[in-house]
Amino acid sequence: MNLLQWKLLPLLTLLASVFLVFYLKDPSENECSLLPHKHFWITSKRIVTPQGVISGAVEINGGRIVSIVKEEERHGKIMGNHVVDYADAVVMPGLVDVHVHLDDPGRSEWEGFPSGTKAAAAGGVTTLVDMPLNNFPSTTSEETLKLKIKAAEGRIYVDVGFWGGLVPENAFNASALENLLKAGALGLKSFMCPSGINDFPMTNITHIKEGLSVLAKYKRPLLVHSEIEQSSPSPVQREGSQDDPRSYSTYLTTRPPSWEEAAVRELLKVTNNTRPGGPAEGAHIHVAHLSDSGSTLELIKEAKRSGDSVSVETCTHYLAFSEEDIKDGDTRFKCAPPIRDKANKEKLWDALMEGHIDMLSSDHSPTVPDLKLPDSGDFLKAWGGISSLQFDLSATWSHAKKRGVTMEQLALWWSERPAKLAGLELKGAIAIGKHADIVAWAPDEEYDVNDIPVYLKHPSISAYMGMKLSGKVLATFVRGQLVYEEKHAPAACGTPILATVTD
Ligand SMILES: *[C@@H]1O[C@H](CO)[C@@H](O)[C@H](O)[C@H]1NC(C)=O
Ligand SMILES: *[C@@H]1O[C@H](CO)[C@@H](O)[C@H](O)[C@H]1NC(C)=O
Ligand SMILES: *[C@@H]1O[C@H](CO)[C@@H](O)[C@H](O)[C@H]1NC(C)=O
Ligand SMILES: [Zn+2]
Repeated sequence: MNLLQWKLLPLLTLLASVFLVFYLKDPSENECSLLPHKHFWITSKRIVTPQGVISGAVEINGGRIVSIVKEEERHGKIMGNHVVDYADAVVMPGLVDVHVHLDDPGRSEWEGFPSGTKAAAAGGVTTLVDMPLNNFPSTTSEETLKLKIKAAEGRIYVDVGFWGGLVPENAFNASALENLLKAGALGLKSFMCPSGINDFPMTNITHIKEGLSVLAKYKRPLLVHSEIEQSSPSPVQREGSQDDPRSYSTYLTTRPPSWEEAAVRELLKVTNNTRPGGPAEGAHIHVAHLSDSGSTLELIKEAKRSGDSVSVETCTHYLAFSEEDIKDGDTRFKCAPPIRDKANKEKLWDALMEGHIDMLSSDHSPTVPDLKLPDSGDFLKAWGGISSLQFDLSATWSHAKKRGVTMEQLALWWSERPAKLAGLELKGAIAIGKHADIVAWAPDEEYDVNDIPVYLKHPSISAYMGMKLSGKVLATFVRGQLVYEEKHAPAACGTPILATVTD
């Protein structure tokens, strides 16, 4: 080597290092957020915290909330740092939607992780928990959960957790259920009536009791689709009758409130197992998507009074729509249990306001437009499931605001309590130490759903198309990353959230 080459060596080394830094660095890292800062402040006159709504600033560093200061204490503290000011807009914990079907893997043509989580981000949802069915294969074992986690990696724009399925096949096999829970399922879901998906059969009360005893050990919940078929006129019996399958009331009479009531009455045989000192202490039963605000709700109230570990959710569509609104042939509104009449809707609102209903979820359950049978408009044969994920916040608010609902209540129903149900200790509130999962939104801004970009795979089947809604999402942060602000961050940097076993 001659002298010249020796002199060039340090320079070449330097160039090589620069090359390595630029080309071998994870390319997604600076594409995860529309904001380059890791340490910054969010300011607003309306920050929703568990202690109330404050005017002030939230300090975010490395994805966590590290301090919260009130306006009067603020001066000097945030000088010289990067500040994102939302002025009069509301700054709230991001929504945690615990009931979502993204149909991935296996039926991603119905929705899929990328479109579903983009829609979630645009709607202020920072965490969602995916249901174990409608994807294929159903998520009922460690192996199928691993397939789902793999499908989610690098394709989700918000954080996503997973429920496992409790089905007859695994209900009596404690080690199979334990493997599913150890692999990270946040809890289990089961059906007391046919689910509509052949590889997700329904469970009876014996299966549920078995499932609870395993869940108790892991302190995780069982979510139950609470309807049991009763000998009311079934679609088959009705064939040849006068009833028009295009008429919503025809569908409604096929699934009366007595189905929900029968299911919860049956569930009450085992909810007592969850009491302190009971054989399934530590487990919890969550009644999914309550529609009947009558006897079914009374039974749930009774269980709560007895000290059973029970909670209940209702969905936005039961609060936004009623039988009277649904036009013949408009199968976008078909779901189970069905949307009932206006009086029922008003009672659901009362129960929510009075604290008898604990939380909200979307039960976003889309399909391909063809299966909604838009041409025939046959309510009896169309796919049952409402597409709504992008509108969780604004659809709730559009109906809540005239009822005097506060921002604290919204945060409780949509963030704090759902996070608690799913065991997500770092989610659900603007509080020190939590993940910086935040939505900034303008409650007074109205928009026409037809005028905004809808990121769902099949916007045409969403129940909210053509409607005017209040409450526009301005920005969504997931673990301090600005994932949405009029557009999405280039890379999908959401994380699969897995439950961890603590001994
Ligand atoms: C129970 O599940 C385990 C793990 O999935 C499996 O290896 C075993 O064969 C199952 N037992 C029965 C009786 O099905
Ligand atoms: C539930 O089904 C199982 C078979 O999977 C059966 O052994 C059990 O007796 C059933 N329980 C009830 C209450 O019917
Ligand atoms: C729960 O209630 C049922 C009756 O609904 C009763 O048979 C059972 O023994 C009770 N179990 C416990 C653990 O209290
Ligand atoms: Zn569902």
